[in-house]
Amino acid sequence: MITDHETEALAPLRVGMTTQPIPPPSILVIFGATGDLTHRKLLPALFDLFCDGKLPEGFTVLGYARRQKSDDEFRADLRDSVRLFARHNPGDNERWNKFAAGLYYHQAEFTDPSSCHPLADRLRQLDAARGTQGNRLFYLATAPEFYASLVTQLGDARLNSQDHGWARIIIEKPFGVDLMSAHKLNRHILSVFDESQIYRIDHYLGKETVQNIFAFRFANTILEPIWNRNYVDHVQVTAAESVGVEERGGYYDSAGALRDMMQSHLLQLVSLTAMEPPVSFDATSVHDEKIKVLRAICEMKGMDIDQMAVRGQYGAGQNLAAYRDEPRVARSSTTETFAALKLRIDNWRWAGVPFYLRTGKRMPRRATEIRIMFKPVPHPLFAQEVARGIEPNVLAIRIQPDEGIHLKVAAKEPGQTNQLRDVRMDFYYKTAFGGAPGEAYETLLIDTMRGDSTLFNRKDEVEAAWSLITPILEYWQNTAPTDFPNYAAGTWGPSAANDLLARDRRQWHNP
Ligand SMILES: NC(=O)c1ccc[n+]([C@@H]2O[C@H](COP(=O)([O-])OP(=O)(O)OC[C@H]3O[C@@H](n4cnc5c(N)ncnc54)[C@H](OP(=O)(O)O)[C@@H]3O)[C@@H](O)[C@H]2O)c1
Repeated sequence: MITDHETEALAPLRVGMTTQPIPPPSILVIFGATGDLTHRKLLPALFDLFCDGKLPEGFTVLGYARRQKSDDEFRADLRDSVRLFARHNPGDNERWNKFAAGLYYHQAEFTDPSSCHPLADRLRQLDAARGTQGNRLFYLATAPEFYASLVTQLGDARLNSQDHGWARIIIEKPFGVDLMSAHKLNRHILSVFDESQIYRIDHYLGKETVQNIFAFRFANTILEPIWNRNYVDHVQVTAAESVGVEERGGYYDSAGALRDMMQSHLLQLVSLTAMEPPVSFDATSVHDEKIKVLRAICEMKGMDIDQMAVRGQYGAGQNLAAYRDEPRVARSSTTETFAALKLRIDNWRWAGVPFYLRTGKRMPRRATEIRIMFKPVPHPLFAQEVARGIEPNVLAIRIQPDEGIHLKVAAKEPGQTNQLRDVRMDFYYKTAFGGAPGEAYETLLIDTMRGDSTLFNRKDEVEAAWSLITPILEYWQNTAPTDFPNYAAGTWGPSAANDLLARDRRQWHNP
């Protein structure tokens, strides 16, 4: 057993950490409960919350899917997934049995228009048995084509009602495939649920380091004065994946990097980095500031897109197959597996400060990072040979892996010399707080139970992001790429992405 004293030595900031109040009991209905998302992310996250004592007494999961299964079979399947993907081990029978007693399964067909009526009966029975007080969370962990009809069915069965307890709906990404489809989906959901009941997930927002952008920016006086065009030269956001499309070729080939990553995760990171301080940390104030950033980003049109956007697709390299040879990918696919954008934010704070974004598959390593690249000093006191290789200050916010924040500064080498060297001041979550931060889904699930939508997307944010991305999607659809594949698997993307920055006398900094 580790004493408090030892904990402090190992992870000094862990001692004295606060805990949040436990939310009221509820039933989480997962549509698509036999699927990959439920098994790899949702149930492991719930088990970890349970083990950390964060779930309320009586909390219940009702899995909803097509195949026949008893409650016990459902529990046994989930135990296997929890063993593989949770932080805690379900090997302890007493702990697992207590958690599993709250897991139930409901077999039904999404396409049956009346399937939510028997569901309503089942929920009433569970409320009585488990003391969940009529509080319901509906999680659409299904293919997007089912979102609209499931929402209709929930409304028909009056499961949107908040007469006895609350009703909330969680909608997975992708939310639409372009501006028009996102708008249509929003309109439909809003015809059944109120905006305050809707939680549109972008799991990046649940990541500890992403939330820490708020704290870092707005709880430290030293940063705010320099967080603007006077001191910042430009910003780079990289979300690199080392994997290819894995088993998702079917989905990915109709989506591509722009839809899959740029519209959601990367634009979220930009809006958090660039937003003004909200008046408070309630959901409305935060969303109000984030949307202003998205609205201030200049839309790209027509030929601009050739200058400010780059697409790529990986070919074979380092013994890895080309994208077009991946399973369930068309042999002549023109889907981009890499995208880079140069964004201009037309507002007082950021005028003239470009934000360069890039994301890609089959890059040399998995890393997501925001780099704030500061301007060089106004007057170089150190002779060039002394400061050779020294770059202006960089603040890197590492979202994954090795979550942390690093500041690069110039320092003098020791001894009788004036030679300078870049040094890093590092903050790692793992070493400071002990252990890697919890999974994003843990934070997001508990927030929905508490009714806190700060880390979710509001209707206007989703649509504003689509309105920036849709013209690029359309332009690319109408001008087929002639050079695909244009980067080798295991490299940092096509040379055109380097040219995008080289034209501005800058270069990418690889995380
Ligand atoms: N997987 C991830 O890591 C991940 C990450 C981010 C977002 N998402 C999003 O999350 C959603 C779910 O993804 P997934 O990977 O979990 O999908 P999946 O593995 O294909 O699972 C689909 C689920 O839907 C059920 N289902 C399909 N058709 C049905 C029908 N007609 N009636 C009843 N149930 C039906 C399946 O039940 P049966 O098995 O019984 O047929 C299964 O439980 C998608 O929108 C995806 O884009 C997934």
